[in-house]
Amino acid sequence: MIDLHAHILHAVDDGARTLAEAVAMARASVAQGVTTIAATPHGHSSVSAWAGYSVIKLHDRLDELRAALRAERIALELVPGTEIFGEPGAVERLRQGELLPYGESKAVLVEFHFGITQAAAEQVVFAFQRARHRVVIAHPERYRFVQDDPNSLSPMIERGVLMQLTGDALVGNQGEGMRHLAETLLTHGLIQIIASDAHGPHHNRLPNMGQARARANELIGVDATDLLTQHIPAAVLNDGLIAPATPQQVQRWSGR
Ligand SMILES: [Fe+2]
Repeated sequence: MIDLHAHILHAVDDGARTLAEAVAMARASVAQGVTTIAATPHGHSSVSAWAGYSVIKLHDRLDELRAALRAERIALELVPGTEIFGEPGAVERLRQGELLPYGESKAVLVEFHFGITQAAAEQVVFAFQRARHRVVIAHPERYRFVQDDPNSLSPMIERGVLMQLTGDALVGNQGEGMRHLAETLLTHGLIQIIASDAHGPHHNRLPNMGQARARANELIGVDATDLLTQHIPAAVLNDGLIAPATPQQVQRWSGR
């Protein structure tokens, strides 16, 4: 599997705190069946807890972790990226190289503040698309407009945006309400990618791709799950063709 969203680089943001934690996350991910991780620290311009982000630091941490994985004989490929905060100026910061797309691709991982409106999210997304980027939206299940109406994701999906569900939401580690929403999104074609968004080896949002895949297998079958955990993520990394399923209308949604 390919995990397109993980805070595995140490001492950059609120993810792994030390190199030892980063190695522990790598080991746990491999045990879950992951072969490639996109290391995507927060690239927020203003939040002080994440102010340590810089592309230079990201590459330094990546080099350190790759060396540690070689020394420990852990077979895991790492691809650089950024979890880009969808705010004014983000497209320009990306163009100037302060924020990174996935590896050598044109694809970007974008998150929003949780209270953003559908219209505002679409404006940000379409600005990236106008600049010829493929957009992956991080954890759509966390945004209020999605919790209010899951169908609100459909217009973006129909314009080629990819929605990344977090494994922990699907396996129930974020509560029953979040699990219900995650299952609803997944079973209605509103999710194109499953990733861990892992922040550490032991606390919330774990490297649990194997558990997430097992639950997805039960809900949508093995072939569809392989698309979300392997084939679409691979196409994201190499700008390949992606033809996701058409979203189905969610009926009688009463909130999560
Ligand atoms: Fe994240």
